[in-house]
Amino acid sequence: MTVDGALLLDVDGLTVEFNGPNGWVRAVEDVSFQVHAGEIVGLVGESGSGKTVTSLGVLGLTRAQGGRMPHGRVVFEGTDLVTLDDKALNRIRGRRIGMVFQQPIRSLNPAFTIGEQIAETIRHHEGISRSDAWARTVTLLDKVHIPEPAKRARQFPHEFSGGMCQRAMIAMALSCSPSLLIADEPTTALDVTVQAVVLDLMREIQAETGVAILFISHDLGVIADMADTVAVMYAGQVVERASVEELFISPRHPYTAGLMAAVPRVGQGRQLVAIEGNVPDPGNYPTGCRFHNRCEHAVAMRCDTDLIPLLPAGEAHDSRCVRTSELMLEGVVVA
Ligand SMILES: Nc1ncnc2c1ncn2[C@@H]1O[C@H](COP(=O)(O)OP(=O)(O)OP(=O)(O)O)[C@@H](O)[C@H]1O
Ligand code: SF4
Ligand SMILES: [Mg+2]
Repeated sequence: MTVDGALLLDVDGLTVEFNGPNGWVRAVEDVSFQVHAGEIVGLVGESGSGKTVTSLGVLGLTRAQGGRMPHGRVVFEGTDLVTLDDKALNRIRGRRIGMVFQQPIRSLNPAFTIGEQIAETIRHHEGISRSDAWARTVTLLDKVHIPEPAKRARQFPHEFSGGMCQRAMIAMALSCSPSLLIADEPTTALDVTVQAVVLDLMREIQAETGVAILFISHDLGVIADMADTVAVMYAGQVVERASVEELFISPRHPYTAGLMAAVPRVGQGRQLVAIEGNVPDPGNYPTGCRFHNRCEHAVAMRCDTDLIPLLPAGEAHDSRCVRTSELMLEGVVVA
């Protein structure tokens, strides 16, 4: 894993709105982060914090859901994807940016064999012959450790276990050698042992191919394991950004510290403290700091009035908290 590579994806001020019964609401606002070649960037936050909308926004897929993007740029390999039409975006999705979604079974078509689906993706983007696409499909299935890949390629999704479906999805996402893989909760639907196997596989493939990964999870433990740098999301905003070591040793936002306190740690025997309350829905965000009604460090008139920007909190470390320099928050040591 490296963060020395060239800038690959520059998400700057991404804002996504959806039209609801009370008009347009902002699901994601002013989200900025970068992914460099070969880097694994973790996007973490509780359910409803805006992780999926951010990834769909990056891929231009929120349009199909009736969403609009009033602000923001998504510069990928030098091109602002926000300015592209669907046809141009389709040439990038699947070819330069691979995608793995949370529910593999929903992303695979039950009417076609696994091999047909992967080979078709390759042919769609690269226009190579059927036999070459099939040969590459079998090699890819082998790469993601599907046993007897030539035989398995002829099977349908329902003949694959959940873990195998997810590995097939990873094979499909990597089939055109993308420079970026977006993986949205790629292991959440799997049981814990299968989850560990798939995470190992993703790390192995990353080391072998050098593909950069935007890795999305609500699980800070998984993020600690996978990511080089991390963006923490809350209520549609990035509230903290830092390298994984820096973030875990020295969190600077109370929300991040709260998430850390709720991660189980081996041998500590201490009680887990979940953050009380829930992520507010878009359209119901509180004024000021969106976390202030759940934050034990909140101060009236400072935290609940003005919108708070991401502020520098150290070298390559930012936090959306007005009390960052005053608070001593507890971190954890990453093994
Ligand atoms: N198409 C849509 N129309 C309206 N609101 C939406 C739409 N998609 C998402 N939202 C809202 O945007 C907010 C962020 O949703 P998002 O799916 O990005 O959360 P998430 O962080 O991915 O959560 P989870 O961990 O549960 O996957 C949620 O309140 C959700 O209800
Ligand atoms: S700005 Fe105030 S309410 Fe928000 S995280 Fe910081 S201390 Fe808590
Ligand atoms: Mg999601």
